[in-house]
Amino acid sequence: MRLLICKNYTELSLKAAQIVAGQVTMNPQSVLGLATGSTPVGMYSELVKMYEQGRVDFSEIRTFNLDEYYPISADNPQSYHYFMEENLFSKINIKKENTHILDGKCTDTAKECDKFEKLIAANGGIDLQILGIGQNGHIGFNEPAENLNLLTHLTSLTQSTVKANSRFFSDVSKVPTLALTMGIGTILKARKIIILANGESKKEAVKSLLTDSISTGLPASILKVHSDVTLICDNEACPNF
Ligand code: F6R
Repeated sequence: MRLLICKNYTELSLKAAQIVAGQVTMNPQSVLGLATGSTPVGMYSELVKMYEQGRVDFSEIRTFNLDEYYPISADNPQSYHYFMEENLFSKINIKKENTHILDGKCTDTAKECDKFEKLIAANGGIDLQILGIGQNGHIGFNEPAENLNLLTHLTSLTQSTVKANSRFFSDVSKVPTLALTMGIGTILKARKIIILANGESKKEAVKSLLTDSISTGLPASILKVHSDVTLICDNEACPNF
């Protein structure tokens, strides 16, 4: 795992955006795996700036989002559908039909997850996966557990994740406790992965990721078996060794 330390969130966002833009420039038909949450907001805004300056063309890219709450409708401002529209899709020249986000309103979750896996495969697999990291070390919504799911699945969120994500909701009781998420195997199949971490609240997770051995209790640690992962963190999230 490569480690890239940035002096602050602005630099982290710019570096991450440069990596994504580089990928899209090298292969305009790239398949990108996208994350939501507060971490990638700055990166998306840098990508929008690059698009506005005519430096990147997103017209041929295809995207798959890591996860979506369940149940939730796409027009709910707390949904990840809404987040992607607000932060990226409505601001660049991506084709709507080339964006894929798990349907938080589906009735048959197993079928929806299976369809998602098949669609990723039919598109040739993910070229570049962008990840954030939970304070408890989760990636996507693969929470610490004795066993981790390999494929896209319906999962329960831990209390700590519900609490961490309550900052986006009016009340903690409004945070969905279930989500659809890519599995660990889905993520590991990506050819290249970048994982972003900023702020003091991620320091412990980053420290465990860098120093502890691989365990299902820290889902992000599984990334150590992948040959092309770059952890990009800012000074605040980077532990002092
Ligand atoms: C979001 C996702 C999550 C977040 C993680 C960190 O699509 O998959 O794993 O990356 O919970 O969230 P933030 O960035 O809000 O701290």
